[in-house]
Order: sequence, then structure tokens, then C-alpha cells
Amino acid sequence: MPAPVGLQLSQFALDVADGLGRAGQKEVPPRYFYDDLGSILFEAITLLPEYGLTRADERLLGSHSDAIVSETGPVALIAELGSGSGRKTRYILEAALRRQREVTYRPIDVSASALEACERELSNISEVQPICADWMEGLNEVAQNRATDEPLLLLFLGSSIGNVKRCEIVEFLRHIRWNLRAGDFFLVGADLVKNEQRMIAAYDDPTGVTAAFNLNLLGRMNRELDADFDLRSFVHEARWNSSERCIEMHLRSQRDQVVHVGEPDLRVGFREGETICTELSHKFTQAELISYAHSSGFDPVTMWMDRTWPFVEALWRADER
Ligand code: TRP
Repeated sequence: MPAPVGLQLSQFALDVADGLGRAGQKEVPPRYFYDDLGSILFEAITLLPEYGLTRADERLLGSHSDAIVSETGPVALIAELGSGSGRKTRYILEAALRRQREVTYRPIDVSASALEACERELSNISEVQPICADWMEGLNEVAQNRATDEPLLLLFLGSSIGNVKRCEIVEFLRHIRWNLRAGDFFLVGADLVKNEQRMIAAYDDPTGVTAAFNLNLLGRMNRELDADFDLRSFVHEARWNSSERCIEMHLRSQRDQVVHVGEPDLRVGFREGETICTELSHKFTQAELISYAHSSGFDPVTMWMDRTWPFVEALWRADER
């Protein structure tokens, strides 16, 4: 529903005004994918045969969770940036609980429905304290409210690190490090560079689930910002950008058109073929990940790699500084 006149614009409206109102490449921040429908479509993506990431992540956690928690030692608190449904996290919690009596799990996600699924999935094995917020806002809350002296394990799975712009990754990781204490652990899942066709297919499946997920962003603007996007006049596109080593997701306008976004009352012109960039998904090498750790205040501890779908789980320790 549009906000009544005189009321403050939502953050969503402000971000859309900024991303679609600009000259040059239009964009909408990817966090807006995850309304209730978007969260379910993303869960469907994780089941696609072409999208190997989630299964690789899950295989690694399934096989190495005991090794991971034996590296960290006892942790009182496990927090997670972008938890989604929490299915993969079960392995880590169960491994931690084989070594210690209890652990508190704090999932951080922008999607309330994902957090509910997470609570349903995990509250029978540990204390779950969800935080419905942005990653950094949520992490800040975790950092402010933790008891003294308890080590923390922060999870950042599913290669969400890949969704940060490459030139901002080190700054982003330093920001995370800043919210941790020396001796805390950070477990980051990262998708590796692989065959180009395989990478493209993961983001452009033949059943069209990924296209639906991407187009839902326009649907959400129609529903929540009173926009009039004609979803049938945009198509999903996934491209490999070899210099940045990332998959770029776009929505391409099939014709010249003007779209009205009720909140913040913005008219957006599209030329035929013009796109909105909706997400970047960077792919990494193992060496690159190690250098990111060193540049941002972490000591790399161990890395576990999946061979079926090249993907790693990297465990870092916040260094003394
Ligand atoms: N974080 C996921 C990724 O980069 C999100 C994702 C998967 C995605 N498929 C997508 C985002 C398609 C936009 C379009 O792998």
C-alpha cells in the first residue's frame, strides 16, 4: 500500500528512487528480492538441478561440521547473516551440541517468514533468538547484547559474500571484523570460479524459476510501492562479467516504456533493451579468499572444498589487533 501523503517514505521507496532515478545503469538492491513470495522462490532455486551452490554448501556442512566445531572449540553463541530457512545451519548446531550442553542461535534476516521457518526448523535443538534486520544492523545488535567472555561463531553461508560489490568486499569484511572480538570465528561459504556455462545455467534455469524470482522484484514494487511495471515486458538475463568475475543478473525491458512508481512518485523511462541490474554474484579463487581474510583482520584457519560443485567453506579467526 502506498504511504499516505505527508508520511515518511519507506527505505524501500528511497532505495528505489535512488536506484531507478539515476542516469546510467539502473539498479535495485538485492535485499528487496526477499518478500514472502521471493523467499519461497529462492527456496525453490536452491532445489534446481542447475543451482549447485546450496547442495555443495550443505554437503560440506554435513561432512565437516564436527571438524569445524573442533577447530573453534566451545562457542556460546552462533549468529548467522542471512539465515534463510536455516536448513544448512542444523548441521553446525548439532555438531556444537555434541560437544557442549547448549548454544544460542541468532539468525539475522530481512525476511520475517524466513526467520519463522528457521525457528520451526531449529527451536527443537537449541535456543533460537531471531533478529529481523539488515546484516550489519543485526550483527551490531548481536555484538551489543552478548555476554562477556563467550566466544562467537558467525556464519555467512551460501556465498552471500559474492553479492557484495568486489571493490567493497574488504571494507565489508572489516566492518564485520569490527563487530567481533579477537578469537571469535567467522565461517564463510564461497562459490568458486568454474566453467562459464555451468555458472550461467545456475542463474538461468530452463524451468524459469530464477526468472520468476528476478521478476518478482518488479511485482513487489507494484504491490508495495504502487508501481505499474508490466512484468510481461521485462525478461530475466544472467551474464558472466569476466573482468569482475561475477554473474550479473538483469531485468531487460523489451520495449521503450515509462513506468510510474507511486511511492516516491517517480516516472522511470526505459529504452528497448535497457536493463535494471538486480544482483551481482561474484565467484572466487581460494587464494583470493585467503588474501581477503588477511586484509580484513582475520587469520584463515582451514578451508573445506566440494569437488562436485567447486565451493568452499572457509573458517577464519578474528586476529589480535
Ligand atoms: N545469493 C544468491 C546467489 O548469488 C542469490 C541468487 C540466486 C540470485 N539466484 C539468483 C539473485 C538469481 C538474483 C537472481 O547465488
